[in-house]
Amino acid sequence: MAILLPGGAGYIGSHTAVELLNAGKEIIIIDNFSNSKPEVIDKIKQITGKDFKFYEVDCLDRQSLEKVFEENDIDAVINFAGFKAVGESVKEPLKYYHNNITGAVVLLQTMQKYGVKKFVFSSSATVYGDRGKEIKYVETMKRGETTNPYGTTKSMIEKILEDVYFADNDWDIALLRYFNPVGAHESGLIGENPQGIPNNLMPYIMKVANKELDHLNIFGNDYKETKDGTGARDFLHVVDLAKGHLKALEKLEKEKSGLYVYNLGTGTPYTVQEMVDTFKRTNNVDVPYEYVGRRAGDLPIFYADSTKAKKELDWTAEKTLEDMCKDSWNYIKQMEKNKGE
Ligand code: WQD
Repeated sequence: MAILLPGGAGYIGSHTAVELLNAGKEIIIIDNFSNSKPEVIDKIKQITGKDFKFYEVDCLDRQSLEKVFEENDIDAVINFAGFKAVGESVKEPLKYYHNNITGAVVLLQTMQKYGVKKFVFSSSATVYGDRGKEIKYVETMKRGETTNPYGTTKSMIEKILEDVYFADNDWDIALLRYFNPVGAHESGLIGENPQGIPNNLMPYIMKVANKELDHLNIFGNDYKETKDGTGARDFLHVVDLAKGHLKALEKLEKEKSGLYVYNLGTGTPYTVQEMVDTFKRTNNVDVPYEYVGRRAGDLPIFYADSTKAKKELDWTAEKTLEDMCKDSWNYIKQMEKNKGE
């Protein structure tokens, strides 16, 4: 019985594939390489020493998706397939709604057709919206007003999954709300390497440290809600996040059915300044930066109440901010080394 990973060649998907293989699971990856590279498939095999099936398939292509289900005995699906650049989603909402929402619906319809009802969804803390003074998010909170189409697609897919479960309680669904994933596998063979100018903080820091970009703009240092005025987030190591998916899958394997929601975060916020300073100190590299105006849509601070995942999944994030910085930089250095080979 295999676990299907749509988007499994991407940043979170590839790290989850490694953890599932290391745990002895059989996996199948499907990916259209819209935001990932074919060589990641071989890197996953190199890291784990394990083999697995791969299909170059887009979740919007129902016929190709059905072929994967026809040819394989699939027990569960962990869906990573989706565009995730906040800024791009504001400029191109229809691209995001079609790819993320229609893709998810076609995938779920195909699962239904083949009687596959265990589903883990890559959701996001962004579904909580702006909660004002409530900065520690807990799963019992109602979803809030999302501030961009990317976040809205996450919120809408959560609602779709609630409706699917309400219509048929045989479904077994886990919604995983990621906080801010950063870092890379310790091998340096896989990591986050977005195309073009990065939106997110850590990939930007990595490119500045590697002298691909001139300096980091720190968006605002006048947030009175934080210890040093820069924004604060619940950064978690991508390997910890990947292990959270294994725990969620094991929960679904144990339970016959249900709809479960979990925050995957450390529960400890760090500021942008702390992240930059830690990156420089841990890696003994310079990261030139300047303070600029706040970025539209940014919240000052938010972080996870991570007690539910601890209690129900026996999962807690273990890696430190130093680990996140060390592994991120190691990934860049490995890439440089491979370019030179
Ligand atoms: C973090 C902090 C910025 C870049 C978004 C999505 C979330 C998830 C992760 C995809 C903020 C500051 C950033 C820079 C900066 N999506 N920053 N200079 O906005 O918390 O979350 O990305 O996986 O769903 O909402 O992440 O990394 O963009 O920003 O100062 O060049 O870093 O202001 O305080 P964010 P981020």
